[in-house]
Amino acid sequence: MTFIPYEKRKYGPLGPNSKEIIKKTDKYSSNHYARYPFAPIYSKGAWLYDADGNKALDFLAGYSSILTHKLDEAFAAYTDEYYNGTDLISGALYNKPYAEFLELITNLTGYDKVNPKSDGGTATDSAISALLNHGKPRGIKSPEAILIEQYFHGRTWIFGSNALFDDDQKYNRNPQAGGIRVVKNNLKDIEDAINENTVGIFMETHQGEGGPLFNSKEHFLAIRKLTKDKKIFLGCDEIQTGLGRCGYLMAWQEFGEEARPDFVTLGKALGAGLVPVSMTVGTEEFMSILKPGSDGSTYGGYPLAGRVGTAVLNYIQRNDICSRATKIGDYFTQKLTGIPGIKTDHRGALIRVELEGVKTAKYACLEMLLGKNRNPRVFMKHGHYDPIRDVAYTRIAPPIGAMTEELIDLAVEKTIIPVLSQASRKK
Ligand SMILES: Cc1ncc(COP(=O)(O)O)c(C=O)c1O
Repeated sequence: MTFIPYEKRKYGPLGPNSKEIIKKTDKYSSNHYARYPFAPIYSKGAWLYDADGNKALDFLAGYSSILTHKLDEAFAAYTDEYYNGTDLISGALYNKPYAEFLELITNLTGYDKVNPKSDGGTATDSAISALLNHGKPRGIKSPEAILIEQYFHGRTWIFGSNALFDDDQKYNRNPQAGGIRVVKNNLKDIEDAINENTVGIFMETHQGEGGPLFNSKEHFLAIRKLTKDKKIFLGCDEIQTGLGRCGYLMAWQEFGEEARPDFVTLGKALGAGLVPVSMTVGTEEFMSILKPGSDGSTYGGYPLAGRVGTAVLNYIQRNDICSRATKIGDYFTQKLTGIPGIKTDHRGALIRVELEGVKTAKYACLEMLLGKNRNPRVFMKHGHYDPIRDVAYTRIAPPIGAMTEELIDLAVEKTIIPVLSQASRKK
């Protein structure tokens, strides 16, 4: 049988019920997501189930938001609060779930204060506002924050114009939007960009969306030292890398306590796929810039978010999610070692698989999910094509609490290796 390259195949919905969902969505939704034609109606553990009797192993986990699908403890906490406590009572009042959550997260992260939000974009946007607001007390008229090129922080106005990549995997960027200066991720460029207006640097600890690509300890510590020497702040976006994903509660912890940033944004997994929960955690010095009225969020720190966030943090501790992430990532990448044309790198359960010389990662991902008679079906997301290194990326981020060695064996042996090694053949 002749092999048809994946990019020449057509991938449609797997059945009539999914087709109907997809048809409606495509008709009425704005066209801002390039979706794979798969429409789950039920999820549990590591699996996604569609309305036509198909199931797929989830290796994206809601862009790192899911530790296990349907985290029962989070739902139990949510429903208990909903039936026996309050729903939304507004940030103008105090609430016990949030108070308890604050105590827990500050204890676990070692930060002094928390500014709660709902989604990741607004948490990071608000962290940058706070950073820029530090200009005034320092006598700076036009404060500037330094961001790193191709790092992703969500889709607010400020980040949308700075670090958003388009469907062709080219980056659109307005390097001078607001008080933002965007520089390449090397020490010399970062150092050169620092001037008398600079209040701080804000970066992902490791680049999630645009890779994943990982910073070395040496590079990260050099940036930390530079910011300390220049007396400016360092903030890290751990919306994707945090909460166990990279083998630590916060990925920067891999580099030791001397790496500690002044503030960190967290989100995604904190809401267990149930409610959006995000926040900035920071030192007293950094967070003291926030005064009544300078920031706020209707759903930020509301009781249900407090209960779910607490349940997630307890789940992470009780189930040793950090070391599980390391074990899963090591096991997965070791299984792909030695396969011609495939390279991997990872931190915990945030994994990059590179295919040499081809742009077909997208079609390989479609084939794994939707290919005829694929068993098991596997859902993971293609990343971008790097023309300089001539490699195509696939991002893999399994649900840490639900993924087992047996499921990895099944997915890798039956689906991932056969598809990726075909896709990596140079045409
Ligand atoms: C590092 C990082 N920051 C911020 C965000 C934005 O989060 P949200 O989509 O919840 O706004 C994302 C989302 O992928 C992210 O990966």
